[in-house]
Amino acid sequence: MSGIDNSGTFKLGNRVVKRLGYGAMQLAGPGVFGPPKDHQAALTVLREAVASGVNHIDTADFYGPHVTNQIIREALAPYRDDLVIVTKIGARRGEDGSWIPAFSPEELTQAVHDNLRNLGVDVLDAVNLRAMFDVQGPAEGSIEAPLTVLAELQQKGLVRHIGLSNVTPAQIAEGRRICEIVCVQNHYNLAHRTDDVLIDDLARQGTAYVPFFPIGGFSPLQSDTLNSVAARLNTTPMAVALAWLLQRSPNILLIPGTSSLAHLRENLTAAALTLSENELRELDGIAS
Ligand SMILES: NC(=O)c1ccc[n+]([C@@H]2O[C@H](COP(=O)([O-])OP(=O)(O)OC[C@H]3O[C@@H](n4cnc5c(N)ncnc54)[C@H](OP(=O)(O)O)[C@@H]3O)[C@@H](O)[C@H]2O)c1
Repeated sequence: MSGIDNSGTFKLGNRVVKRLGYGAMQLAGPGVFGPPKDHQAALTVLREAVASGVNHIDTADFYGPHVTNQIIREALAPYRDDLVIVTKIGARRGEDGSWIPAFSPEELTQAVHDNLRNLGVDVLDAVNLRAMFDVQGPAEGSIEAPLTVLAELQQKGLVRHIGLSNVTPAQIAEGRRICEIVCVQNHYNLAHRTDDVLIDDLARQGTAYVPFFPIGGFSPLQSDTLNSVAARLNTTPMAVALAWLLQRSPNILLIPGTSSLAHLRENLTAAALTLSENELRELDGIAS
């Protein structure tokens, strides 16, 4: 076993993916709006990710909007059989780049068709319904109506698997009464551990948990503890932060985002990193 294969695998519905994947959001322009600064570099990052063994890519048609999916298609189509592309719906972008809820049946249906067209596929591997009651974090509110629309699109054969994003445990339970939920994508990392209990519950149920902002998102993690553990292991703080997530629970799938080839290579080294009990305890102290 070599490279990212060391991260192991987990199932996303009836597909199996390596636990170290790639998040495509950083491939759009500044503020996830408009085209990237360097189109060729974006293609190169995606191609290198897949050449390195990544077979799970996270995206959304509202990144750009449309830009990220179009870059994925240009870089990677025709897609490898083992590649699983997970997208999300539930938002649209204002002309100023703002993130606006888009939950009407027409908007949700349009979003699925936009993803199909821009990714260039007949069926979407997996679609997360992204809750928008509070854009910044999970907030209660019924997801029954929009999830029913998505489940109907699944029954029509346009979507293989359904997941939820930015949701509470009550919304996951509500979702499961409507359709199978194969993954949950919420904000979680070494320093932001609101979902600790949820992750363990989902692990017991065999459901994937996919943390977004795994290394801190728009402001990458900064911590003396992280720096000192990384220095001791002769690696980088971001690799340690990702390795900690891999060891945190077997149902965690990573989708670190980057527009940089150097950062991609650095992030993929996390798969081969093993943290000792002492290091894990030290890193656990960051959140407390
Ligand atoms: N469901 C949701 O609501 C939601 C929300 C946000 C994101 N997501 C998904 O989650 C994925 C991951 O989230 P994210 O990209 O926002 O956050 P992230 O992976 O935590 O961090 C990305 C940021 O860290 C930088 N970075 C990446 N690798 C680095 C390294 N080795 N050293 C230093 N800086 C590094 C990136 O800049 P460079 O480009 O310069 O490397 C970027 O600014 C996204 O791609 C997206 O697919 C989902």
